[in-house]
Amino acid sequence: MRILTGIQPSGKLHWGNYFGAMKSMFDLQEKGENFMFIANFHAMTTVRDGAVLREATKDVALDYLACGLDPAKTVIYRQSDVPEVQELAWYLSCLTPMGLLERCHSYKDKMAHGFEATHGLFAYPVLMAADILIMQADLVPVGKDQKQHLEVTRDLCIKFNNQYGDILKLPDAYIPDTVATIPGTDGQKMSKSYHNTIELFEPNGSIKKKVMGIVTDSKTMEEPKEPEGNSIYELYKLFATPEEVAAMAASFRAGNYGYGHAKKALLEAYHRLFDPFRARREELAKDTATLEDILREGARKARAFAAPTMERVRSAVGL
Ligand code: ADP
Ligand code: TRP
Repeated sequence: MRILTGIQPSGKLHWGNYFGAMKSMFDLQEKGENFMFIANFHAMTTVRDGAVLREATKDVALDYLACGLDPAKTVIYRQSDVPEVQELAWYLSCLTPMGLLERCHSYKDKMAHGFEATHGLFAYPVLMAADILIMQADLVPVGKDQKQHLEVTRDLCIKFNNQYGDILKLPDAYIPDTVATIPGTDGQKMSKSYHNTIELFEPNGSIKKKVMGIVTDSKTMEEPKEPEGNSIYELYKLFATPEEVAAMAASFRAGNYGYGHAKKALLEAYHRLFDPFRARREELAKDTATLEDILREGARKARAFAAPTMERVRSAVGL
């Protein structure tokens, strides 16, 4: 089974990204042939500063490698190092009805948030279809927000195959129900657009400040509290063992347990999981040559997988 996913380097990765997207990729790492790429072409729809994009691309690669992506098990590459995706995107574009893209929520949302209506933003789902179809992926782990893009990918795959013959594999989305929406420091969905994120690798002092600043109600320490639905408790569930979670719930219900205590426990649980990742990231960041080698080797492998498909595609479309 071939598993592929991509992530845009459009900001620092945060706890929501880790538990909502990265972790399911690590969990699947043992189950198939895995591909994970950094969607820097896609990020250009919103990031227009070259230095920022280059830095963010490197940061995403370091974050994934530090948190457990094993390049021996998962091919990791930069989207731009596989330029054939742009070529396939063009062939798909010529079959894409305007109406299909006009219906896409993410395009409408971006416009509602004040982004300029560029052709790149509009054509985003076609490029995403090319990323997936070029690798003949079976399964694509994504968050719920990407469901519609996967539907576009499937439509374009069927359309291409009906027109040119059975060349591209029909992929399925993998959207685990178990992944809850992770709350941010203000209780809304954690998202860089809401400025309520806790980044995976921000400096220790700043993580502490954000955890201690998580918004709560104004119950006193003595009052018993219902843990379910409380952001600190919801975040603690991600990091702690079931026994620790049960103990926190019991403490909240018993009273004499304040939000400050729970925040401290959350911070400790974060450090227990992330301190080894932080140490690994520091090491990796010192050696940019090795990072570059890993990404180049990933691109080499990815292009080798893409080559036979592209040969068949070019021949079928008449080139
Ligand atoms: P952001 O909302 O910060 O812009 P992205 O849209 O770039 O994050 O998300 C990249 C991936 O991380 C997606 O697959 C998305 O589903 C997942 N993700 C982001 N935030 C959360 C969250 N708060 N809870 C669960 N998953 C999330
Ligand atoms: N659109 C995805 C996101 O914002 C990123 C992405 C681009 C992607 N191409 C992909 C994800 C192909 C999976 C497969 O999260």
